[in-house]
Order: sequence, then C-alpha cells, then structure tokens
Amino acid sequence: MAFLKIDETKCKQDGICAAECPRRIITHKDDTSFPQIAPADEANCMACGHCVAVCPHAALSVTGVDIQDCPEIEKDLVLSWDQAEQFLRSRRSIRRFKDKVMDRETLVHLIETARYAPTASNAQNLQWTVIEGRDKLEPLSRETINWMERVIEAQPDSPTAGYFRPVVAGWATGYDGILRTAQTLIVASAPKENANGLVDLSIALAYLELAALPLGVGTCWAGLLRGAMLATPELVETMGLPEGHTGFYPMMIGYPKFKYHRLPKRKAPVIHWK
Ligand SMILES: Cc1cc2nc3c(=O)[nH]c(=O)nc-3n(C[C@H](O)[C@H](O)[C@H](O)COP(=O)(O)O)c2cc1C
Repeated sequence: MAFLKIDETKCKQDGICAAECPRRIITHKDDTSFPQIAPADEANCMACGHCVAVCPHAALSVTGVDIQDCPEIEKDLVLSWDQAEQFLRSRRSIRRFKDKVMDRETLVHLIETARYAPTASNAQNLQWTVIEGRDKLEPLSRETINWMERVIEAQPDSPTAGYFRPVVAGWATGYDGILRTAQTLIVASAPKENANGLVDLSIALAYLELAALPLGVGTCWAGLLRGAMLATPELVETMGLPEGHTGFYPMMIGYPKFKYHRLPKRKAPVIHWK
C-alpha cells in the first residue's frame, strides 16, 4: 500500500495538505497534480493526522492514520465560548471523594480521551499506572509523611517545614492530607528518552481531569506524594511504574462527595506585551 493514499476521484489538487504538513514532506507541484510523499521522506512522517484532518474532501489517508479512524467533526457539538469558559472554570481539585474505587471502564474511557492531548513530536509514549484501594494508597501517604518528617527535622525553620507540619499533625489525628480520601490513584509516566516527557504527561493529565467533569468524576494532582517520590526512589519502586519511565505525576481520581455551586475568582493575569 502507498504510504500516502490519495483517492483521485475526490482529491481537488488544491495542495492544502502539503501547505499544512508540519514536517513539509507532502509535496504538491501545481493544481493539476496530486500530492505525494517521496519514499525517502516517509520515515519523517510523525503520523500527526493533520493532512487527513485538513482535507475538505476526505481524499487522503496516510500510513498510521487511516481516514476510517478519523471521524468528521460534528458542528452541533462545537462548544460556544460561554460553554467553554464555564466548563474550564468549573473544574475543581477534589479532596473529599466518595468511598468507592473508580469504575475501570470509565477510567479507561478517560485515559483514551487523554491521548488526544498534544505530545512533542507526536511521540505518544506516555503510560498509565492505576493503583486502586485505600489499602494500597495509605502506605504511599505514610511514606510521604515519613519524608515530610525527615524534611522538618533537617530544615526546621524552612517555609517547607512550616507547610508540612500541619499535614503531619493531621495524619496523627487520622486525616490523610496527602491522598485525601481518594480510593484510586493514577500515575502518568513518560520514558527517560522523552525530553518533553513531563510536559507531555502534564498536558495529558490536564486533559484527563477536564474530560472527567461531564462524567461526574473528580481529580486532584498529588503534588505532595510526587515530592516524596522524587526524594525516595524506593517509594517509586513499590508503585511499579513502567521500566525506564523517569518522568511521572500522580493524580487522585474518584467520585466527588460534594457538588460545587460557584466559580471561584483567580488572580488577574500578568501580561507582558512586547
Ligand atoms: C502540580 C499540582 C500539584 C498539586 N498538588 C496538590 C496536592 O498535593 N494536594 C492537594 O490537595 N492539592 C494539590 N493541588 C491542587 C491545587 O492546590 C489547586 O489546583 C489550587 O488550590 C486551585 O484549586 P482548584 O484546582 O480547585 O481550582 C495541586 C495542583 C497542581 C497543579
């Protein structure tokens, strides 16, 4: 099969695909010729799908991006600005979850949606580790508390120690201020060779938490646990992340106990026009 498959009955030879191609490997001589990819350039295609997405005539497929897998954009589903703005503003970090492990089917659906986040060079090499149940989450919180205690001891006058002390005190009274009341933890990870791994996985997690909203699912970035993970390689080992994955971020996920009725204010943006 040709690397670039053109349906010559549909192609209008307008060259839009060639103009759009981010790697500039689709060539289009003039409005009487069909676009092409030279065999020598095939390896440079990152299968981003832009050529398929931009063609108004559904006239092409490229190896790795079959047009059958690229549904048409439904105009009725495009968000209005008001809908988009309220949607983005209504995401909240959840600290009180229902006493219920995340339904796996829903979680798979969310992870599949998070794949649509951009990744540098369209690498798409993130992986997902799901840790389920308080019996597995509590030891992670415990290890984080141990790390906090070590930090408090080593730097008692630091602002970090001031931040950690109430969390450690809360743990002593039975409140888990690390993984809160979550029953499920999802860890996005990227392989060492992905120089943009942390950015890729952060965007994917941001997609995931937004996608979770209409499904009645809530999330919270687990920054304190991540701090402990960075400082304690043995803790990362107990979590069983994929071999060679050195970029990671954990996120709590589950069913929020409470509903939200208002949109909190943010600081005014600081913008530098140049
Ligand atoms: C990278 C990152 C790490 C975070 N870590 C934690 C955390 O460890 N525990 C927690 O309760 N919230 C954590 N949060 C949530 C922030 O506190 C929260 O986003 C902020 O207070 C704004 O609230 P909102 O997300 O509900 O709008 C984290 C958020 C981010 C983006």
